[in-house]
Amino acid sequence: MNETLSPTEVAKEYEKKRHAVDRALSKLFQSPPDELYAPARYILEGKGKRIRPMLALFGAEAISGSSKNAMPIALAVEVLHNFTLIHDDIMDKAALRHGRATVHTKWDIDAAILAGDVMHAVAFQLALRTKSKNLQLILSRFASSVIRVCEGQAYDKAFELRQNVSLDDYLMMISCKTGRLISASLELGGLAAGATPAQAKLLRQIGDLVGRAFQVQDDLLDIVAGEKFGKTIGGDLIEGKKTFPLLKALELAKGKERELLKSIVKNKGIDASRVMEVKAIYEQCGAIEETRKFIEADFAKAKRLAQKLPNPKGRARLIGFAELVMRREF
Ligand code: IPE
Ligand code: IPE
Ligand code: MG
Ligand code: MG
Ligand code: MG
Repeated sequence: MNETLSPTEVAKEYEKKRHAVDRALSKLFQSPPDELYAPARYILEGKGKRIRPMLALFGAEAISGSSKNAMPIALAVEVLHNFTLIHDDIMDKAALRHGRATVHTKWDIDAAILAGDVMHAVAFQLALRTKSKNLQLILSRFASSVIRVCEGQAYDKAFELRQNVSLDDYLMMISCKTGRLISASLELGGLAAGATPAQAKLLRQIGDLVGRAFQVQDDLLDIVAGEKFGKTIGGDLIEGKKTFPLLKALELAKGKERELLKSIVKNKGIDASRVMEVKAIYEQCGAIEETRKFIEADFAKAKRLAQKLPNPKGRARLIGFAELVMRREF
């Protein structure tokens, strides 16, 4: 039997878990020196959605019905994620995150590098607190996920300079830089709750699909989002990023529109004043529509797989939360 939760019940569950995660995070990075820890506190105090810790907690509930043992890993993946965001904003020359100055803009690049470094180590300290017979496996999977994220970020940077990036190249890159940590959050949460190897694999597969859809959606929001997004609109275009909508539009657009898109690839970016022009091309050639369809298809697959998870209430919560994330505007 397939239990479902109403959007209000899902929102309530999210609020409750988010509150517990926020409270625990607010206790971290309190000691001196401020030069090191203030940037770490600052990024964690931003309007992050806490998607990865939620997935760890919901992943655990979908296995055993309880998220109790998954809290350390939930905090670990969030601290790790925020470390990657600090370094990502340096690499992407991004000035804004959640409507506030990015760490390297508010402080400087040295402070941002160092805050990221310490958060990386603290993330592992947090993961080590997991009370589970699977602890060694959890740590080993956590480490390999971080390595995969770094590989993905390396591909992302390398693709900025490359003219010939295919959709398959792009999908490989995003499954590393974003998919892997999302997938690990679900899997490690599940392992902390005693998942069997087969159940862990199922969580990983669900996470791969959700993670991929999540990054394609992030790419789409870069161009279609409103104020709430809190990042510079068109930032990916300005930086010459190979995103799903751009690669799709290169397939679909014709004539002078296609020439303009090709010039973005050739010149490794475009002036901020032309972002809306590119958005209009994406809309006209159907790239926006195709991007939405891709997200929907991955998500539908993830939902079907999630029905196989053992705990009915837990899996209903997990699916409800994933639906909330997929409807996000920020
Ligand atoms: C941003 O992640 C980076 C991507 C992988 C797209 P989120 O959109 O989850 O960022 P926060 O945690 O809400 O700040
Ligand atoms: C970020 O991807 C992926 C990681 C941080 C590992 P993006 O560069 O698209 O994320 P945003 O848009 O800056 O949040
Ligand atoms: Mg990036
Ligand atoms: Mg970025
Ligand atoms: Mg982005």
